[in-house]
Amino acid sequence: MSVVAQGQSTGNSPDLVGRAREFEQLDAALEGAFAGRGALALLTGEAGIGKTTLARRFVEHASTRDAIWAWGACWDGGGAPAYWPWVQIVRSLARRLDVPALRDELGESAPWIAGLLPELSSALGSPPPPSDLDPDQARFRLFDGLSRLLAMVARRQPLVLVLDDLHWADASSLHALEFVARMLADAPILAIAAYRHAEAHARDELSVPLGGLARMAMRLPLEGLSRDDVEQMAMARARGLDPQEPEFIASGLVEALHRAKVRGVSLSRIQGHGGELDRVETYRGTRVKMGLADKVRFEVAVSDAFVEPTVEALCEGGRTGEVGDGKIFVVALERVVRIRTGEIGDGAVTPAGA
Ligand SMILES: Nc1ncnc2c1ncn2[C@@H]1O[C@H](COP(=O)(O)OP(=O)(O)OP(=O)(O)O)[C@@H](O)[C@H]1O
Ligand SMILES: [Mg+2]
Repeated sequence: MSVVAQGQSTGNSPDLVGRAREFEQLDAALEGAFAGRGALALLTGEAGIGKTTLARRFVEHASTRDAIWAWGACWDGGGAPAYWPWVQIVRSLARRLDVPALRDELGESAPWIAGLLPELSSALGSPPPPSDLDPDQARFRLFDGLSRLLAMVARRQPLVLVLDDLHWADASSLHALEFVARMLADAPILAIAAYRHAEAHARDELSVPLGGLARMAMRLPLEGLSRDDVEQMAMARARGLDPQEPEFIASGLVEALHRAKVRGVSLSRIQGHGGELDRVETYRGTRVKMGLADKVRFEVAVSDAFVEPTVEALCEGGRTGEVGDGKIFVVALERVVRIRTGEIGDGAVTPAGA
């Protein structure tokens, strides 16, 4: 006997597992930034909890909403220049603007930005040598220049900044963020700072500025994912699958078959037109009927005794209750030969059954 389950829809599984609440909070903050009321969000949690993953996924989302983003990550290997995360952010933003516009709009701040990006010093001038200026004043000028540059970019398009791995930051980078954070409430800028809380606070020089930041920020402490989320992620990992791939969507079915002791499943990607496609949707004001949908087709060969358990397993693993769950066809096989052993009939399928 052969059991063919056909039509399990592949759907659109997001590549971020869980984190819906934090994602929504960030999205609400982005909404605020679009209305000119920016914010600072602190994404904290232990190593590997998913800070970078969430921030990455979120900036991708922000760019689909026509925001631009810039990313600066700290470096733990030693030797990074001062303000390293800001250097990366400023470099990626400066690339979006032509140099004369930068020079004109930054005005007297231009040389201070060149202080961060020496490659621009011939066009923007150089800041005065450190000996000519009081260090606090020099720092103020630099922070002011940085804020001006961010405001200048954000006037063109709302901006999302990510400063990642701040537990490895130099204290000056955090002071710069404190300065920038004060202007966010009136700017279309969402800044997201990510760090391992315990590690960052274990460094005395970071603890004070982080405390200052926390008072101004929306805090998003990441906790462990739910059991279901972890299972979903582990399953995808175990098979080296991308959660967007049909094989990942199909993994629930494969698991259910495995529990029913059925081994040996073929899977193919197909396109189909099921009941779900009778739906008419409105897309940007235009009513459209959906085209063909991506689906997965399973083929399982089992002995007669295993047909019912296989059908049950397919129903258990494949039922979402939605249109598009597909159908099962049970068809007789006239002849089966196992190539490796030459076995025929029931002996050639797994499990062979009683
Ligand atoms: N919500 C999630 N969905 C899918 N994969 C995740 C999720 N959270 C974490 N991961 C995976 O776990 C691994 C670690 O996540 P990530 O690098 O985002 O952690 P982190 O909190 O930034 O850690 P670190 O403090 O070391 O920078 C990554 O391989 C990532 O793909
Ligand atoms: Mg990270």
